[in-house]
Amino acid sequence: MCGIVGYVGHRQAERVLVGGLRKLEYRGYDSAGLATISEGRVEVRRAVGKLDNLETLLDAEPLSGSVGMGHTRWATHGRPSERNAHPHRAGDVVVIHNGIIENYVQLREELAAAGCVLCSDTDTEVIGHLIEGGRKSGKSLADATRGAIARLRGSFAIVVISSGEPDRLIAAKNATPVVVGLGQGENLVASDIPALLDYTRDVLFLEDGEMAEVTADSVRLSTFDGRVVERAARRITWDPVTAQKGGYKHFLLKEIHEQPTAIIDTLRGRLDQDAASVTLGELEGLEKDIAALEHVTIVACGTAWHAALIGRYAIERLVRLPVDVDYGSEYRYRDPIIDSRTLMIVVSQSGETADTLAAVEAAHERGAKVLAVCNVLDSSIARKADYVLYTHAGPEISVASTKAFTTQLAAFYLLAVWMGRRRGALAAAEEARYVQALAELPLLVEGALKEEEAIARVARQLSGVSDVLYLGRGVNFPVALEGALKLKEISYIHAEGYPSGEMKHGPIALIDEQMPVVVIIPTDEVYEKTLSNLKEVESRGGRILSVTDDADAELARISEWVVPVPRTDSLLMPMILAVPLQLLAYYVAVERGSDVDQPRNLAKSVTVE
Ligand code: AGP
Repeated sequence: MCGIVGYVGHRQAERVLVGGLRKLEYRGYDSAGLATISEGRVEVRRAVGKLDNLETLLDAEPLSGSVGMGHTRWATHGRPSERNAHPHRAGDVVVIHNGIIENYVQLREELAAAGCVLCSDTDTEVIGHLIEGGRKSGKSLADATRGAIARLRGSFAIVVISSGEPDRLIAAKNATPVVVGLGQGENLVASDIPALLDYTRDVLFLEDGEMAEVTADSVRLSTFDGRVVERAARRITWDPVTAQKGGYKHFLLKEIHEQPTAIIDTLRGRLDQDAASVTLGELEGLEKDIAALEHVTIVACGTAWHAALIGRYAIERLVRLPVDVDYGSEYRYRDPIIDSRTLMIVVSQSGETADTLAAVEAAHERGAKVLAVCNVLDSSIARKADYVLYTHAGPEISVASTKAFTTQLAAFYLLAVWMGRRRGALAAAEEARYVQALAELPLLVEGALKEEEAIARVARQLSGVSDVLYLGRGVNFPVALEGALKLKEISYIHAEGYPSGEMKHGPIALIDEQMPVVVIIPTDEVYEKTLSNLKEVESRGGRILSVTDDADAELARISEWVVPVPRTDSLLMPMILAVPLQLLAYYVAVERGSDVDQPRNLAKSVTVE
């Protein structure tokens, strides 16, 4: 989730661009760069690390010119470094990009074979070389960009400038946002509205498959195949801080709503729907070891530990390997019995959690290989692991993990299918069925989000309670744990997650009118058993909130509230069932006035023991 900004107008571009990147820093950065056109030449300045480093460089080597573009990088391909920082140059063409080009390896090989010298490890660089090729064959910058886009597969928001056409920039969008800002004698493009608000509140949103040709006095929209697009401008009334949250009141709510996109980005390039298979090129080195594996150990903390518990169900069911799961803080003192026949999987959004990092070292000391499921490229855990399966959730700003959790589940589902096929434990027909079911998940998560208003109403009724019990069975027991964690960490209400079947072994003593019970009860193989647990709750006056894909008459009768969700394969249901629990926790916390994005006593990443 990089930040991009472009400017054409009457001002010196450098200050406009740096100011715009400042407003996009929340999108994450591990490097930043600027390019402007001055006296017929394109000048580029790039620096690894925070935006301050780029500003220090610009103080020493300023850029002039009133056409330019800027980029803050959230790395997906190629570790954070100056050489991988954007903008990327190819002859007199310079490009910045936000997204993932799925076929970049093939394009890199093709360009190298044609004599192009590639100077980075990024997918972005191939775009500039493709455009330069078009320019060399006499095409305009806009048409050369069209020709390059026709070769790309994947998501991209790109901005292109060239000293050959020094009065304009080209922006193009596919699956990653681009917004055009309409000024007086100046125009801008950016990945997000905050970067524009100092200059204009009149914007145009590009749709997928569209590009904009922007000069100081004109903006021409067209489709990739050249058809002109007419679109009315919209007026943005948000204040800058609200704009950073995409119009949402909190980053947490924005990130809950980003989940369909984050899941799409995590699945992108890994689901081959034509071949009905899962492809995990980044785990190629692991393939040779899979047959010899006898055991999997998964280690994580907090929400990532809940994802690990669901990962255990997926791996045991589809790979038929025994799996144990532990907290990082416990594992490091267990003196665990693992060796080269064990695969350790560590799960961490930040990739910096000290207790989880310690498990990586414990595994390596005992000869086990480590696979990390991480959201931050080149984080400490990612660097120490032998293999990394990145989630592509983009920066998660709110302390409470939401899109990190659902994209970790997506990673586990992909991994379990991929490993299951390579151990001969999963038939091709089953792989095909899961590929189809996984591809549908983003839409189903979107469907679960539609209950937001109803859930907000329930939250207002629950916001005064002091204790809540969450129940789930089987693969949805960890969902109960996650729902309880969400509520307790942002609303400060005491909440516990329990296996539904454990009620008789203690928790039922807690049940009375003051103790709401949130039950995750999809119509799966354990539905009837969970329903009978609920009758025990109802007979003791407990207040029941049921989250289900289909409430039969009996469940509807005993539930005070029912929150419906879409239905999919029972193993994948946690991805969908988690969403209403995230929304419930959010609206209870808002009702109670707690600091939703920065809850008391908590840090986004626990980098100490
Ligand atoms: C969850 O909402 C919390 N933010 C916390 O439990 C978090 O999941 C845990 O600290 C692990 O963080 P990590 O995924 O960055 O390792």
